Amino acid sequence: MKLSVPHIDKSDIRSINSVLKSGWISTSSKTVNEFEDKISKFCNTKYSIALNSGTSAIHLGLKVLGVDNTTEVIVPSLTFIATVNPILYLGAKPIIFDVDQYHNLKIRDVINFIKNETKFKNNKTINKKTKKVIKVVIVAHMWGRACDFTELKNICKKRNIFILEDAAEALGSYIKIKKYKHCGSMGDIGCLSFNANKIITTGSGGSIVTNNKKFYQRVQYLANQAKNDTFNYIHNECGYNYKMNSISAALGISQLRRLEKKIAQRERIYKRYLFNFKNSKNIKILPYDSKSKINYWMNVISFKKLSFKQTYNLSLSLSKKKIETRRIWRPLNLQLHLKKFQKHNIYNASKLYFNSLCLPSDDNISNTDVDKISNHIKKIHETVVNNKL
Ligand SMILES: Cc1ncc(COP(=O)(O)O)c(C=O)c1O
Repeated sequence: MKLSVPHIDKSDIRSINSVLKSGWISTSSKTVNEFEDKISKFCNTKYSIALNSGTSAIHLGLKVLGVDNTTEVIVPSLTFIATVNPILYLGAKPIIFDVDQYHNLKIRDVINFIKNETKFKNNKTINKKTKKVIKVVIVAHMWGRACDFTELKNICKKRNIFILEDAAEALGSYIKIKKYKHCGSMGDIGCLSFNANKIITTGSGGSIVTNNKKFYQRVQYLANQAKNDTFNYIHNECGYNYKMNSISAALGISQLRRLEKKIAQRERIYKRYLFNFKNSKNIKILPYDSKSKINYWMNVISFKKLSFKQTYNLSLSLSKKKIETRRIWRPLNLQLHLKKFQKHNIYNASKLYFNSLCLPSDDNISNTDVDKISNHIKKIHETVVNNKL
């Protein structure tokens, strides 16, 4: 029983075959354009650019927002490493913040920081401690759980700070601000991932979504080798080979047709876990903000009474029963190459990392499987708590 694996069906293979037969397999084709159209329609954004990974989406997103070696970027601590590494590619510095009860950026902390620990001069927000310009806040929608950053958006607008949404895990998740808005469509730039473990996959791949024409044009230009004149091979800037190829796009188009069905399956699994643990005082399934509609991509469980080692032992016992679990993302403040960067009162993220696990959440897990997993967890937890493991 797996966390989340790709599901390739006959229609996916038909879609890929038709592209292979056509010979239009590179990064420029009507298939890539069609995938871009479908993603922007789905997310309700004016534009989308299909790229070869979520990481390249974050990299280019930050670049077009003006992140460079004179700037800093605010990030949540509890996220996959690909949220932060692109900041380092650009020579900028991350400032790492804590997360809330949904594992999302603690918006209140960021607002207080901007109000109290920065100054606004020449239309720039300057970090009083480092004297560097804070250019972007990255809001990540962890495990598909939508983060409501409405209040932060208002202050960022006044302070000339952009918001990049890392919605890599959140295709099909929405937050209600008057009406439901898709994750990635509320900030200046949104980044999606279609890696093999995601709710839909293109093998590897990602997208940028935005409503800003200038950002859209600049991302298209930079992602495709910064071509100023195709015939004469003129490139006025350093570009990247970051566009998605047509084979991946064909898979994406076909997978997208099943997204709603996949979300329904995962919702069923989440609700079953929730029901199974509703009476457990020391075991909790990660909830989500009631103002949101989510894709239920990944279920996370946390154990109030378990230590780091005990959580590991529990995971090991489950794996002997062919139940795959994994720790949640290791907080950025605990990663060696990020130790030197500024951190802001990180408490929840480290604590959660010690005693939480990702649970099998794959579409094809039956209710009987969920019950089996839940019963094993309860039993093993009991043994571990009683120090017998
Ligand atoms: C939160 C988060 N950000 C970024 C990424 C990077 O996406 P990719 O693997 O497509 O590069 C991922 C997933 O892998 C992710 O989970």
